[in-house]
Amino acid sequence: MLFKQQALLRQKLFVLGSLAIGSLLYLVARVGSLDRLQPLCPIDGRFGPRGQDEIPLRALQFKRGLLHEFRKGNATKEQQLPKAIIIGVRKGGTRALLEMLNLHPAVVKASQEIHFFDNDENYAKGIEWYRKKMPFSYPHQITIEKSPAYFITEEVPERIYKMNSSIKLLIIVREPTTRAISDYTQVLEGKERKNKTYYKFEKLAIDPNTCEVNTKYKAVRTSIYTKHLERWLKYFPIEQFHIVDGDRLITEPLPELQLVEKFLNLPPRISQYNLYFNATRGFYCLRFNVVFNKCLAGSKGRIHPEVDTSVITKLRKFFHPFNQKFYQITGRTFNWP
Ligand code: A3P
Repeated sequence: MLFKQQALLRQKLFVLGSLAIGSLLYLVARVGSLDRLQPLCPIDGRFGPRGQDEIPLRALQFKRGLLHEFRKGNATKEQQLPKAIIIGVRKGGTRALLEMLNLHPAVVKASQEIHFFDNDENYAKGIEWYRKKMPFSYPHQITIEKSPAYFITEEVPERIYKMNSSIKLLIIVREPTTRAISDYTQVLEGKERKNKTYYKFEKLAIDPNTCEVNTKYKAVRTSIYTKHLERWLKYFPIEQFHIVDGDRLITEPLPELQLVEKFLNLPPRISQYNLYFNATRGFYCLRFNVVFNKCLAGSKGRIHPEVDTSVITKLRKFFHPFNQKFYQITGRTFNWP
């Protein structure tokens, strides 16, 4: 009798074990089919401050597991034109913003910068060429692309308007002087890679004849956000823009992403679980599920060269009135000096 009961118990345990292994194998197989995700870095600093440690139940699902919400009926995937575009600003955190938004099950990102609207040769290829560059998505999902050059390129607002006058536009900004130095650092790295010498930031940012800020220097001009935005406002009302605080996206990404979810009329789906601070990288990284997490490439988060403080002060003074105007127009105030 006892022997029979033990055999029955063993049988039950075997069935339960098989079920557990089966589920695990299914999970691994599904995860393996995720194209763009790679386990790029270990999960360091896995849990945030107290209260953020709990893993919500749905966290064990992953992006595709949540898709049922957005896969209505027999809908099939197709290449859709973007309903939202991250138009800039270069070095504002455009890549981080796109990757983080892509955590949302209703968002599908165009991985590459398409440069359709700012590049005459690409633009001449027509809208179908652009559409073919887009990823496949379900009708209820929204495609997002980012090409930071759009923000500063003269022809772009009109061209985007012609494609879709009600498109949503995202602009991510950082404190203008920091952004300019980040811009410089990227160019400097490119020169160094080609074994070329380059000027110091101070030399480029300050006109040696006048000792004033050199407004011809592109890294400076790009940081005059209000000038560029004013061009866009000739085509789109301010309500169609959302300004993301790029400095806050570095230190505290979730609230910034939640504001974007709201702006895009998306149900809130990105949680603290999806973002973990990686002490080695010094940045927040992305967690898609228990298996997959990734940090941005090393080209994001470069160490900036030290810049003369008098030059920084001069630049900050220069940007100040433009910043005030930018706050006024956008209704979003930053603590920029
Ligand atoms: P730095 O390299 O100056 O630190 P973009 O993608 O527009 O080129 O912006 C690059 C900037 O994104 C980086 O500038 C970095 O500070 C910022 N960034 C924001 N969140 C990040 C993250 N989670 N990982 C890496 N970089 C991030």
